[in-house]
This record gives sequence, C-alpha cells and structure tokens, in this order.
Amino acid sequence: MSIISVVGPKGGIGKTTLAINTTAALTRALASGKHNNRICLVDLDLRLPTITSLLDSHPSKTFYDLFECLDKKTYQIDFLKIVYLMASRFQAYVNGNIPARNERLVKVFHHYHAINTDLFLASEFKFGNEIHELLMKRREIKSVSQIKKLQPILKKIDLDEFRRILDELSRASRPVMEEYISYIEEYGFSILGGEVPILGKRAHRKRINEPELLLRFLEFLDTVFQPFEHVIVDTPAGGVNHISSLMNVIDQVLFVFDLSNNIAINGSIDAVHTFIDYYEEFQADYAKGQLVGLDRAHVKRLIAQKGKGDLYQSIKNKKLGLVFNRCQNNQEIVKALKMLREYLDTLDKYHQYKTRIQIVGMVPHNKVINITNNKKSLFYNMDIGLSERMDQIAKAILSENTVCPTLADDDKTIISYLNKVKKPQLFDRLTKLASSSTN
Ligand SMILES: Nc1ncnc2c1ncn2[C@@H]1O[C@H](COP(=O)(O)OP(=O)(O)OP(=O)(O)O)[C@@H](O)[C@H]1O
Ligand SMILES: [Mg+2]
Repeated sequence: MSIISVVGPKGGIGKTTLAINTTAALTRALASGKHNNRICLVDLDLRLPTITSLLDSHPSKTFYDLFECLDKKTYQIDFLKIVYLMASRFQAYVNGNIPARNERLVKVFHHYHAINTDLFLASEFKFGNEIHELLMKRREIKSVSQIKKLQPILKKIDLDEFRRILDELSRASRPVMEEYISYIEEYGFSILGGEVPILGKRAHRKRINEPELLLRFLEFLDTVFQPFEHVIVDTPAGGVNHISSLMNVIDQVLFVFDLSNNIAINGSIDAVHTFIDYYEEFQADYAKGQLVGLDRAHVKRLIAQKGKGDLYQSIKNKKLGLVFNRCQNNQEIVKALKMLREYLDTLDKYHQYKTRIQIVGMVPHNKVINITNNKKSLFYNMDIGLSERMDQIAKAILSENTVCPTLADDDKTIISYLNKVKKPQLFDRLTKLASSSTN
C-alpha cells in the first residue's frame, strides 16, 4: 500500500482537481476485469471538504462523525474507566475488603491525585457530580487511610450502573470502518472523509491539537488505508499542521506548482522546504530518541507494526514529486525549476536533494476544468488530452517515480519528458470514448 499526498500551501492551485483525477487515472491503470476498488481518495480538508459534493457521492459517515465518535472515546471513556477503577477500589477499601497496602489501591490512589479533569464533561454523565465532588476533595486526602473520609460520596456511586453506562459508551465509541468508506461504482474507487466542516464546531477546533484524539484519528486512517493499493490524500491550503505526523506514513508528497501564479509558486517552493526540514528534523530526533508528543506516539506504533529498520528506510525513501499545473508554455516550467533550484542552493540543499525531487507531470491551463462547482472536476476520461497528462502522473506513481526526470536533469530533458505524453492507441481511444459516453 502506498500513500500519496497532494499538497500546496496556497488555495485554489488545483490540489483537489489533481487528487481526484490522479485517483481516476490510477484506477484505470490498475483496472483488471471486475477487480476494482483498489484506490481510496481521502479528503483531509477538515475545514472545507469538497470531494463528496464534487463527485456527488456521500459516505454514510464522515470525518465529522468520526471526530464525535473518537471524542467520546478519548475524553469520556478513558477518563471514566480510571474513575471506575478508583471508585471500586476505594469502595472495597472503605468496606474493609482490601488492605491499605493493596497494590492496586495504591496505584489508583496515585491516579486519584494525578488525573486531569479539564476535559471531563461532568454534566453528560450520570455520576458526574459525585465524580466532581470526589475529585474536589483531593487536597484533603493525603494518604490511603484518609480515603475513609470519602465514604459518603462513594456510597452515592452505584458501581453496577456506572459499569453499564461505561460499556454502552464504549460500544458507541468504536468507529465502524465500512460506514466511512464510500465506493463509487461509476468511477471504481472509494472516497473517505468530507461533507461536514469538522473545524466549524468549537469543541473540535479546541481538540484538533490534542495528541490523544489525533493519535486515534491516525490509527483509524491507518486501519482504513490497509486494504487499498494506493491512497491519495487531498490536503487543505496551508497544509495539515495538526496532523503533521501523518507525513511519516506518506510515501510520496506531490507538490502542486500553479504556474499561473508567482506567489503560489513561491508558496509551493516553501512547502518543499518545509517537508525537507520536517523529515530531516524527524530523522535526527528519531536517531537521538528525542521525538515528542504525537510524533513519538505515532512512531512507536509504526515501529511495533513494521520494525525499526523499515520505518527508517521509509523515511529515507520518501518521494518528493512535482506536478506543474495551469501551464501555458514551457518557459513557465523552466522559470519555476530555476526558482526552486536557486532556493535550494541558497539553503545549501540543492546537491543533496536534486535527485530526490522528481518531476512527475504537468497539466495545462484548461477551460474544461475551470468551471467551478460542477462535475467537470473529474475530467479524466472526458478529455483525452488531459487524461493523457494524468496517465503520465499515474505511470510515474506506479513506477515509484523511476520513469520521470529529477531536478538534477537539464531543462530540455524535463520539458521533453513532460511533453512526451503517449498518444492513445485507436483502441484505447475508442474505449475511453465509449466509457465517457456511458457515464
Ligand atoms: N489546470 C487547470 N486549468 C484550469 N483550471 C483549473 C486547473 N486546475 C484547477 N483548476 C480550477 O481551479 C479551481 C481551484 O481548483 P482546486 O479546487 O482543485 O484547488 P485547491 O488547491 O484544491 O483549492 P483549495 O486550497 O481551496 O482546496 C477549480 O475551479 C478548478 O476547476
Ligand atoms: Mg482543495
């Protein structure tokens, strides 16, 4: 399974358009008989997801539902599980069933003092007030023997009922993978995410940076991605800062360079730099055992799955691919290449990275695409010239970029590669026409 992420910090440069059509081109390249559904397109734009409406396909659950679901798990269930253990052991002690030195009692007594109550929503839980009261007394209860003072509060907590509610909440907090993926038969690929802007909700905005919630989000993505051969991730303008750890599982970053806009080109050059920096820093921190927060937790899990060597290797082998969009003439490409080379040279990184940055493809400025809010965003198979461009990108991805030139090649070689799009064979052409007329 390989994960390809389409990025570019500026809005409107064609990330979504290219993500959708790359997915379609890959699907076609891999299609064999009835065996489809090998590619998944993910809308990681948590602020303004658009893919579901562009493709007019609506998964029964979106990332918004997922966040609601994970939210319960992270902030209520884990907390309540600890409180449940605490209350049951405290009760056992108060009732004389276990001694003060009981190991488990000592352990929960430690939790009693250390547990963070900030995100617990007392009003949403039946014994919320009692829990609140119990925790308010923490300062008074300095030793295990003083737990006896808590007896009146402990009595008010019905542990059987507590357990029952906890089990119910646990069931509701496990996302069912299938509900989130929508397979679009017409196109032969699946989509995930989208529909409702998650960050519109204040609680989600507040929690989007919480490592625990994000880790669960990444875990979910990881499980969902597994059955697919390729996963294409569309990202929002400005990147996905809150889940930068996702970069560790990406195999290829496709940087979109919108050649019609100088500011956007500078932004994309900066994005290349950001990724280089991120991976370099990550490698160094990893080698020194200095990873922190979400990166650390995420990597720990990846190592458990893949082993250390594999992870190191995958970080080293990350592919950095460029796709030029809205191109009107070759000179624009030459200019953008020059800007990128010069920028990397100033950073003293050109020689190290020139062969690691591959030129994956180019899409011309095209009127067919430029009709907002319509189904033309999936132009693949509708416009032969554009489809060929996407086929070139798909081919590069499938070959792990071995067929395309790198930044180290001269401009002539790069331009000639980008213009060497395969003219479809007559049969191929007819199949495409037939399938577009039936769509
Ligand atoms: N090569 C192209 N030629 C003409 N129009 C294009 C081309 N690529 C994209 N567009 C158009 O540009 C607009 C923005 O494209 P798109 O939504 O893919 O950008 P984006 O980078 O995903 O934007 P955002 O950052 O807002 O998510 C769309 O109307 C799209 O049809
Ligand atoms: Mg977009």
